[in-house]
Amino acid sequence: MSRVRHVAVRCPGKVNLHLEVLGKRPDGYHELRTLFAAVGVWDELVVTAAPAGVIELTVEPAGAVSAGGDNLVMRAARAASAAWGVGAGARIHLRKQIPVGGGMGGGSADAAATLVGLASVWDRPRSSVSMERLAETLGSDVPFFLVAGVAWGEGRGTELRALADLPPWWLVLLPAEAPVSTPEVYASLGLGPLGEVAESAVYDWSAGGGTLPLSACRNDLEPAVVVRWPLVRTRLEALRRTDPLLAMVSGSGGTVFAVYPSEARARDEAERLGSYRPLVAPLLSRERSRLRPLVVEEA
Ligand code: C5P
Repeated sequence: MSRVRHVAVRCPGKVNLHLEVLGKRPDGYHELRTLFAAVGVWDELVVTAAPAGVIELTVEPAGAVSAGGDNLVMRAARAASAAWGVGAGARIHLRKQIPVGGGMGGGSADAAATLVGLASVWDRPRSSVSMERLAETLGSDVPFFLVAGVAWGEGRGTELRALADLPPWWLVLLPAEAPVSTPEVYASLGLGPLGEVAESAVYDWSAGGGTLPLSACRNDLEPAVVVRWPLVRTRLEALRRTDPLLAMVSGSGGTVFAVYPSEARARDEAERLGSYRPLVAPLLSRERSRLRPLVVEEA
């Protein structure tokens, strides 16, 4: 009997430790300067080759996200199949743990992991396929997951510079009660076209290195999020009272996070914040967060 080859890919979430929105672009997106960092909250995909024409997704826990054609995993699989001229199909099982609609890039991470898993089951060496180009057509956060670790993003967020790992900080993350709409948050800024770009200590750090100026880190989407979703504000205030290194809304929210210098501090604070159902996770090095296909053979 032939053996079935599955490829498992674990993908982490992300937070933006800094996010400047500089203005609206002619293509309708917003021009950003942002500091992405991978965080140890993980989804997992198991990808199996299938006959031509079959592209199927199952999700665990059932209903955590849609398993239909609108899921970024399905869109990534269809796009990869077309772009790489692949005859075979695929069955993909997604184990979902990254909060959904929370500004942690979960759907984007899943899409990037789909590309990595499919390149492996379809025997397309990663060096031979243009994953980065495909990634940016799938969403503004998707290319970051192919860089992993810590990265500086410009443009829509897709022009990336890999940066050195940050100190081994730990995060407490408080997921929102309900998903937050990213387009709604951006639209509510009501920004005009890109004007003159102000000085930014975090931008200077991204180019020059040294110690990340935590006091200059900010998220320009945060005021719009906390006005529309008051429970996000309550959670953010609860985190700020714990005297963290940094506390902010992640991306377009509604997850909020706080950064601490050690795991012990993060776990202590999480225990005190138990009613908000906190997640505790480390910032990840590039080595730990890089998407890797793990081949599993089954008789
Ligand atoms: O690229 P992605 O599909 O993830 O973006 C979702 C939405 O977020 C966009 O349709 C747009 O409304 C908003 N967005 C933006 N500028 C960015 C990234 C996202 O306006 N740089």
